[in-house]
Amino acid sequence: MVTFFTSVQEQLKFVEQRIREQAGEEHHPDLRSALEHLLSAGGKRIRPTLGLLVGNMLGAPEDKLVTLGASVELLHTATLVHDDLIDGALLRRGMPTLNARWSPAATVLTGDFLFARAAKLAAETDYLPLMKLFADTLATIVNGELTQMFSARGIIDRRNYYDRIYAKTASLFEMSALAAAMVATENKDTRIAMKTFGYEVGMAFQIVDDVLDFTGEQSAVGKPIGSDLLNGLITLPAIYYAEEHPDDEDVQSLPDGGWKDTDRVQRIVDNIRRNAAIEKAMDEARQAVSRALDALEDAPASPERDALEDLAKFIVDRKI
Ligand code: IPE
Ligand code: IPE
Ligand code: MG
Ligand code: MG
Repeated sequence: MVTFFTSVQEQLKFVEQRIREQAGEEHHPDLRSALEHLLSAGGKRIRPTLGLLVGNMLGAPEDKLVTLGASVELLHTATLVHDDLIDGALLRRGMPTLNARWSPAATVLTGDFLFARAAKLAAETDYLPLMKLFADTLATIVNGELTQMFSARGIIDRRNYYDRIYAKTASLFEMSALAAAMVATENKDTRIAMKTFGYEVGMAFQIVDDVLDFTGEQSAVGKPIGSDLLNGLITLPAIYYAEEHPDDEDVQSLPDGGWKDTDRVQRIVDNIRRNAAIEKAMDEARQAVSRALDALEDAPASPERDALEDLAKFIVDRKI
C-alpha cells in the first residue's frame, strides 16, 4: 500500500543525513543527543516525501530537493517539540517526548535550535522567494497556535476549524509542494497546481488526524489518543456531532468550558465514536483528496505522478 515511499527511499536517506549534520561536534552534547533521539524516533516523513515526489516529477535538481526536505522536516519537528510541551504530551512517535525528560526551558531552546537550522537549510537553496515562503509559513503556524490557545477553546464553528487546520498543518504541506515546484519551474500554473495539491492533501491529513484522535490505536499512532476534546479543541467529528445533536447538554456546555469536565468529555467521545460523525468527517477528507487528485490533472504522466496519487489516497487510509 505505501509503495509511494519506495521511489524516494534513497533520497530520504540523504534528507536524514542532512538533518543529522545540523548538530555537529561544536554544539552542546545535549543538543546532539536530542537531535539523535528525535531522528531515531522516526516519523512518517510525509512532508519531505511530498516535496521529493513533486520535485522529481517536475525535474528539479536533487540537491535542492534534499535540502528543502530536510528544512521542512526540521520545521515540522520543531513545531512538534513545542506543541508537545504546550500540550503536556509525554508520548510522540512511540517514544517519550523531550518535555517528558527535560525541563520546559531546555525543551523550548531545543525547539528554537531546530527552527534555526530549518531556516538555515531553507537559505541554502539560495533562492530568496523560498526564504520568504518559509518565514511566512512559520508565521502562519505560530499565529494559528496562538489563536487556538487564546480564542478557539470550546468553539464549535466550521470556519474557525478550517482556519485552524490550515494554519497548523495544511500550510506546511502546501509549502512543501509549492517549494519543490518553485525550484523546478517558473511556470505559474504548474506552481499553483502543486500548491493546491499540497493544500488539499494537508487539509485531509489534519481531518484524518482529528478522526484518529477519536478512533485510533495509541500503539499505531504513537501519541496519546482522545486528547483534543480534553484540551477544548472541537474538531470536525465533534462539530458534526454537535450539529446533529444541538439539544445535547454536554454539547451545549462546551463553549462555556464543559470540556474541562472529564466525565462530560468521556460521554461525548463515546457518543461520537458510535455516531455517523466519524464517517462524515472521513467523507470530507476524501473530498479534499479528490480535489487534490484534480490538481494533478495537467501534471506529466510519470511514476512520480502515480506515487503522488498513492500518497493522497494513503492520507485517508492511514492508521498511523
Ligand atoms: C503530526 O504530524 C502533527 C500533525 C500535523 C497532525 P505527523 O503525523 O506527520 O507526524 P510524524 O512526523 O509522522 O510523527
Ligand atoms: C500539531 O497539531 C500541529 C503543529 C505541529 C503545530 P496537533 O496538536 O493536532 O498534533 P498532534 O495530534 O499533537 O500530533
Ligand atoms: Mg498536539
Ligand atoms: Mg492531533
